[in-house]
Amino acid sequence: MKFFLTTIIFTLCALLSFSTAAPISAELLKRDVFVPPVISPGKGTVWKVGTEQTVKWNVTNPPKQITNNKGEIILSNNGVLDFANPLAEGFNILLGEIKVTVPNVASGHKYQIIVFGDSGNNGSYFTITQ
Ligand SMILES: *[C@@H]1O[C@H](CO)[C@@H](O)[C@H](O)[C@H]1NC(C)=O
Ligand SMILES: *[C@@H]1O[C@H](CO)[C@@H](O)[C@H](O)[C@H]1NC(C)=O
Repeated sequence: MKFFLTTIIFTLCALLSFSTAAPISAELLKRDVFVPPVISPGKGTVWKVGTEQTVKWNVTNPPKQITNNKGEIILSNNGVLDFANPLAEGFNILLGEIKVTVPNVASGHKYQIIVFGDSGNNGSYFTITQ
């Protein structure tokens, strides 16, 4: 009986410390990881190769503390992220928009913009034409 009670107390203690610890780490995650939603290019947007275009993302609710404030914009071509040729990099993620030059890529593919801050966020599918 004594052993049984000890076990219950141990279990309660473990549960209590777990439940007090969990919200703290979730809160830390919420504060540190900034995942800016891509606003533009939106669905139905058409970009022409070689033109200058503006990528916009939502910076309305940034966390107070951002672990990485350097942004990077990557083009996803038919679902393949072209990390070797970022459209923009090293800018402040809190800018909210930046001009990029449309790279010479094939027409007829499905393109998406991914804005990376602490982690990436993909925008809508849009079109690039030659
Ligand atoms: C940006 O995000 C906020 C909430 O975080 C939302 O209220 C607002 O409508 C968004 N703006 C755009 C242009 O999507
Ligand atoms: C963005 O990526 C997520 C996860 O891969 C996916 O569920 C979502 O449909 C994508 N959004 C668009 C607009 O493609």
